[in-house]
Amino acid sequence: MSSTQTIPQVTAVPKHVAIIMDGNGRWATRRFLPRVAGHQRGVEAVREAVRASIERGVRYLTLFAFSSENWRRPEEEVSVLLQLFRMVLEQEVAKLHASGVRLKIVGDLERFDSRLRDLIRRAEAKTEANTRLTLTVCANYGGRWDVIQATRALLADRPDLVSSLTESDLEPYLAMAHAPEPDLFIRTGGEMRISNFLIWQLAYAELFFTDTFWPDFNAKTLDEAIASYRNRERRFGRTSEQVRESRRQGRDEQVRLAPEDSRADA
Ligand code: IPE
Ligand code: IPE
Ligand code: MG
Repeated sequence: MSSTQTIPQVTAVPKHVAIIMDGNGRWATRRFLPRVAGHQRGVEAVREAVRASIERGVRYLTLFAFSSENWRRPEEEVSVLLQLFRMVLEQEVAKLHASGVRLKIVGDLERFDSRLRDLIRRAEAKTEANTRLTLTVCANYGGRWDVIQATRALLADRPDLVSSLTESDLEPYLAMAHAPEPDLFIRTGGEMRISNFLIWQLAYAELFFTDTFWPDFNAKTLDEAIASYRNRERRFGRTSEQVRESRRQGRDEQVRLAPEDSRADA
């Protein structure tokens, strides 16, 4: 379901929350600890975010864990981050499974060693039938990588589309095709940027920035973000009057916009 093709249903609890978990390093530095101590504490905040999301009825939680640009960091920090990722996959999947979490790992996984790729495959397979919460972890993920890999895969399947491809042709090939677009985007750590996260899917997300460092993120931070989200008027290009009118008529959702293009089969 694309926010530019149809108007999505707006619900009081965001269906999909996407988070840039930022500020681990600064959290640690403020405490005169090595940066990696912040990453370790960050894992606890992930547990808390998952728990709080399930409690509040969020259906999709997407976490940016390692960007395609994070390889630029010192080798030692990269290696600790990869170790932590492996540790979480080894030790947390059983618990996630018991809580009804479906786990998805998206990104350019080819860059990881075969042992890690195998852990990822097994974690996804084990949890694939769970429906309570879809937890997507973006690892070696970049929004631009995603758009390019999807375009390549689509054109390999359908070379005939080269001069006529549409948004809906491309969407099934994007790494987040298993989830609706995020309703609420949260970035902790005080920076106000997207840092090559879900550049396609965030087109109409409500953005929430907080100075809280990721290791301090908890249910209260999530509630603040959701409270702010509830105060937004999601217009999707319409006027405020149109939004109110459609709400009055109880047809806030799935209003068809102009046809995407003039192709006969679109
Ligand atoms: C986010 O925290 C974790 C990753 C990017 C892996 P940072 O490590 O970026 O923390 P700061 O931004 O340096 O404080
Ligand atoms: C974004 O955080 C990536 C993750 C949280 C995984 P960064 O800390 O890498 O972002 P920049 O470099 O400050 O933009
Ligand atoms: Mg950072």
